[in-house]
Amino acid sequence: MAEPILRVEGMKTQFKLRAGTLKAVDGISFTLEPGKVLCIVGESGSGKSVTAQSILRLVEPPGRVVEGRVLYRDKDLLTLSEREMERIRGDRICMVFQDPMTSLNPVFTIGEQIAEGLRAHQGLNRAAARARAIELLKLVGIPNPEARCDDYPHQFSGGMRQRALIAAAIACEPDILIADEPTTALDVTIQAQILKLLADLQRRLNSAMILITHDLGVVANLADQVLVMYAGRMAEYGDVQTVFRDPKHPYTVGLMNSIIRLEEPRDAELRSIPGAPLVPINPPPGCGFRFRCPKAIERCSQEAPEPRVDRQGHAFACHVAELNGAQA
Ligand SMILES: Nc1ncnc2c1ncn2[C@@H]1O[C@H](COP(=O)(O)OP(=O)(O)OP(=O)(O)O)[C@@H](O)[C@H]1O
Ligand SMILES: [Mg+2]
Repeated sequence: MAEPILRVEGMKTQFKLRAGTLKAVDGISFTLEPGKVLCIVGESGSGKSVTAQSILRLVEPPGRVVEGRVLYRDKDLLTLSEREMERIRGDRICMVFQDPMTSLNPVFTIGEQIAEGLRAHQGLNRAAARARAIELLKLVGIPNPEARCDDYPHQFSGGMRQRALIAAAIACEPDILIADEPTTALDVTIQAQILKLLADLQRRLNSAMILITHDLGVVANLADQVLVMYAGRMAEYGDVQTVFRDPKHPYTVGLMNSIIRLEEPRDAELRSIPGAPLVPINPPPGCGFRFRCPKAIERCSQEAPEPRVDRQGHAFACHVAELNGAQA
């Protein structure tokens, strides 16, 4: 196994709200190897975006990462100065957001926005950065890039804007790409194209990628590893074949059943498990999934399950699910 490029250990991110402490991310750990794709799945509010924001230290106040480590090439990103962090963000670790319109600045041209990162991080002069921006627009499939480079965001369609954002994100050939539901704002036909583009580029650059998605079909097609989140915690984590073949957590089992029921993995939505997700503000003790869990026992309302890991690194947090083989 290759040395991980990113190692997240016991990360906790909380929002201090008037109603109490919202434990948006409550002890998440995972590793990412160079060139590999980790998909994060889970219902709305399960903490996927806050996990991504925490890694890049982009959590909005009153949110704060209160515990854990985010090790990138042996540096804990959580301890870097803001200046050091800025050097990594947009250069070594880049993010593609959900909504391309809010991520682009309406008063600068597309070309200027792609060139900005190249000038800041790679020291290219104006002309060289522009030439590279044109190349990048071509790479992401924008027709006539020499002319379109000078367009403003409103002159681009939704799909083209997302392509432009991907161009900006890969401009410095990052080690890690983080894409937070990069296609939800787009038409279904465009979604597939954009995902294919992201996957092709990720492979070509050999970047590692964290892809947040609701779509288990995407996970099955693109992921090497999958992290299933529930109410801010890891429900299950492991390599994608293992988790799909032998899901352990009753929540993951429910997700898998929802695919089989629909017989259409591409459209399988995670919402099809009955009951509402838990909002983790001052959460009661016990497992967050127990209210919806067909297998819950007494113990599940008394203590939250600690993650268990088998020898292959397949991890899950459930009192009831059985471990295969010996515990690592
Ligand atoms: N800026 C904020 N202020 C207060 N609470 C927040 C903020 N951002 C996120 N949260 C809360 O943190 C929890 C996790 O949110 P997050 O956005 O990570 O969910 P998600 O899994 O990305 O959901 P979705 O699939 O809808 O994008 C939610 O309960 C959310 O309400
Ligand atoms: Mg989100």
